[in-house]
Amino acid sequence: MDFLDAARTRFAPALAPHLPEGASVETFLDLIRPANDPRFGDFQANFAMPLAKRAKKPPRELAAEIAAAAELTDLFEEPEVAGPGFINLRVKDDVLAAETAQLAADERLGVPVAADPRTITVDFSSPNVAKPMHVGHLRTTVIGDAVVRILKFQGHHVIGDNHLGDWGTQFGMLLYGYKNFRDEAAYQADAVTELARLYRTVNALGDYQAAKKKRPKLEAAVEKTRQAVTDFPPPADKAAKKQLFKLKQEAASAADALASATAKIAAIEADPSLKALADAHPEIAAAARNETAKLHAGDSENKRLWEEFLPPCLAALQVIYDRLGVRHDAVYGESFYQPMLADVVEELLQKGIAEESDGAVVVRGNVDPAGKAIPGPFVIRKGDGAFLYGTTDLATVKHHVDELGADAMLYVVDSRQGDHFANVAATARRWGYDETEFKHVSFGTVMGEDRKPFKTRSGDTIGLESLLDEAVERALAIVSENDDAKPDGPELDAAERQAVAEAVGMGGIKYADLAHNRESDYVFSWDKMLSTTGNTATYMQYAHARVCGIFRKGAVDREALRAEFVADDGAVLLTDPSERAMALQLNRFAEAVREASRDHRPNVLTDYLFDTAKAFSAFYDACPIVKAETEELKTSRLILADTTARVMAAGLGLLGIRVLERM
Ligand code: ARG
Repeated sequence: MDFLDAARTRFAPALAPHLPEGASVETFLDLIRPANDPRFGDFQANFAMPLAKRAKKPPRELAAEIAAAAELTDLFEEPEVAGPGFINLRVKDDVLAAETAQLAADERLGVPVAADPRTITVDFSSPNVAKPMHVGHLRTTVIGDAVVRILKFQGHHVIGDNHLGDWGTQFGMLLYGYKNFRDEAAYQADAVTELARLYRTVNALGDYQAAKKKRPKLEAAVEKTRQAVTDFPPPADKAAKKQLFKLKQEAASAADALASATAKIAAIEADPSLKALADAHPEIAAAARNETAKLHAGDSENKRLWEEFLPPCLAALQVIYDRLGVRHDAVYGESFYQPMLADVVEELLQKGIAEESDGAVVVRGNVDPAGKAIPGPFVIRKGDGAFLYGTTDLATVKHHVDELGADAMLYVVDSRQGDHFANVAATARRWGYDETEFKHVSFGTVMGEDRKPFKTRSGDTIGLESLLDEAVERALAIVSENDDAKPDGPELDAAERQAVAEAVGMGGIKYADLAHNRESDYVFSWDKMLSTTGNTATYMQYAHARVCGIFRKGAVDREALRAEFVADDGAVLLTDPSERAMALQLNRFAEAVREASRDHRPNVLTDYLFDTAKAFSAFYDACPIVKAETEELKTSRLILADTTARVMAAGLGLLGIRVLERM
């Protein structure tokens, strides 16, 4: 049973008379939490302190009053008021034992099916298809997949949508590259690799030309900011120190910008053949943009090439998705929405939501639900008639709500696009989509151990494919070492080791990402993510396999054990504190899923799983299982072990991570 939820339900009516005017009961119910120290009980309610002021009562008195008014004692021992006014709750042992026995027989491990299922679209992964996936696509793919799995498990109707960038400016770069730089034999042999090379070439040449153009300005900026620092008199007070610090920062960032431009120039000039291309194709960025414009205008040659490029690009993406075990329910790429864009803009103009501005069409005055202005204007048609990224997102809202029946639209996209999605949602609300929930499930950047955005040593972005290869390679070494060190000799043959390594490698990458608060940047560290101790997938996977090992060594069939336990109306016995803690932890699975889903935070689930593994090791250390004193106690403990393994497998499964019986 989700005891925390039960406590909330029981306290809600008792709190009602004491709430400040207009306050929601939820705010105060959120102050019921798992206890930090099991000596004080299992849960603790801390709402009496903030409520006492208004009630003009000592918090302890109010706490006692609320505790007495709430109907609790069928589930909990008599509540205790402690300290300044905490209410401590302890689940009754017989209730806990009975609920745990139920949980052991429950396929859903206590997680309820949503009473009010919603239709939710989740936009995740959504790469620009003209270039291979890189490490920047990892977080959206991994977090999005977990969010989808959790919502589906809760019984919602979820449509995981890949909003492919299959229509953008990158295609102009491919088209220009294909027409001018293609190596036909290479293209025939491996289209994706050749297209990637073409993309990189056009991109590098464009960067080079832009950098050359910008260089004089950048040099002047470096000169000016450096001079400003030199000329600054020795700072006499705090304000001056601050001022100087700011100038130094400006000088540093000007120097960075110049260094980056210089590197781009050097990269081309060091290679005579690239330099010749750059000279032969001046203004390449504009030329590539022109190819995009032709594609969008319906040019038949460009359209034909686009149709030719797309399938191999999609196939390459699929290889990565298959390896990660990620799938989408729908793939509505940007190209899908093209026929709708003109109407979207017209409609917004007609309704007076959008306006013309210097030939472009923009939406001004967007505010978030709290009334705060969102940086704008939000451009939906350019002066040359071209539609934008945001126009497509508005058409997507119309499609997802009107055609798919979405009640909520989630966007699993990095935090830098925050203003964009705020503008999409605000415009959509003004357009009439005010019953739809729009949620930007945003996340931070993947950093290298140097705390800068994760790159290869040479400064390139890291391809996803090679990253996955490296994960498996490293995992194989760890798995092999571990297997070799087993007291009775290795257990796995080469094929099994490889399969285990694949699960450990993929699991490691995913878990490391999911275990962090999604909003923070996170540091990518192979050693940390594949460590066999600590809060890692590897540790969890080994913990799971260890529980399975108990059954294997004891020659106990888990299914049969469970079936018999149910048929006999078996009892869970809680004889030791670690046994009781284990049982309580298993009952908290529903709470963990609920809380992880609330604001789409998979790290709530990883924390829970880590605690579960720790609770199991404490239980296992303290309580003999197969050698328990009585047959009844042995069964009870086996049931706890079985349920633990099931909870771990289900929890990791919700994160898209596989477990193994043996590793
Ligand atoms: N393709 C975009 C990018 O790579 C992400 C798309 C996110 N989804 C959306 N509906 N805009 O940045």
